[in-house]
Amino acid sequence: MRTRDAILPDAERIHELISAYSGDGTLLPRTFAEICENVRDFVVLEHRGSIIGCGALHLYGQHLAEIRSITVDPVYQKSGGGKRVVEALLEESEKHSVSCICLFTRKPEFFAHLGFSLAQREDLPDKIHKDCWVCPRLHCCDEVAMVRGELPRFAILPEPASFLVKLEV
Ligand SMILES: CC(C)(COP(=O)(O)OP(=O)(O)OC[C@H]1O[C@@H](n2cnc3c(N)ncnc32)[C@H](O)[C@@H]1OP(=O)(O)O)[C@@H](O)C(=O)NCCC(=O)NCCS
Repeated sequence: MRTRDAILPDAERIHELISAYSGDGTLLPRTFAEICENVRDFVVLEHRGSIIGCGALHLYGQHLAEIRSITVDPVYQKSGGGKRVVEALLEESEKHSVSCICLFTRKPEFFAHLGFSLAQREDLPDKIHKDCWVCPRLHCCDEVAMVRGELPRFAILPEPASFLVKLEV
């Protein structure tokens, strides 16, 4: 097994891998178009020439990056592949001198193994401003926020105007 940066011809397989786990809410759904647009965020996990896993690193800025869409084909799980994907994304974040890596998950135990610790959603305002405010589960989120590194001391994304209204509802 090895990881490498994803390229556009990988987008279809990445879409397939993510879709297999987005139906039950394990992973956030990503459209094929979104994956193509953000393909440079992705690494893929290869085994004997086939793509068996993937993951993405979304950069907010040097203060924050987010690990997303981590998945390994069920046939190959528990063989160290998920760990390789996370390590490749952490290496990428180091190249960019990012001081905090965050993620939202329902599998905190897996990420705890890899050095992540629990955090409060409110500690990550950029994530909230980007994704949470448009999420139908804003007030009933069952994902756990986790971080590795120093919590960001500021946000760079503006608070969406309609977010304040949504919070008051
Ligand atoms: C979560 C997932 C990516 C793990 O991939 P994997 O290839 O099975 O994991 P690895 O074999 O690399 O495991 C690395 C370590 O984490 C542990 N681990 C793996 N899955 C775990 C889980 N669900 N809970 C607790 N520990 C877990 C392993 O035992 C291993 O520990 P070790 O290093 O002490 O041996 C994979 O199960 C998956 O694709 N799940 C469906 C999608 C998903 O849940 N993605 C994450 C949600 S954000």
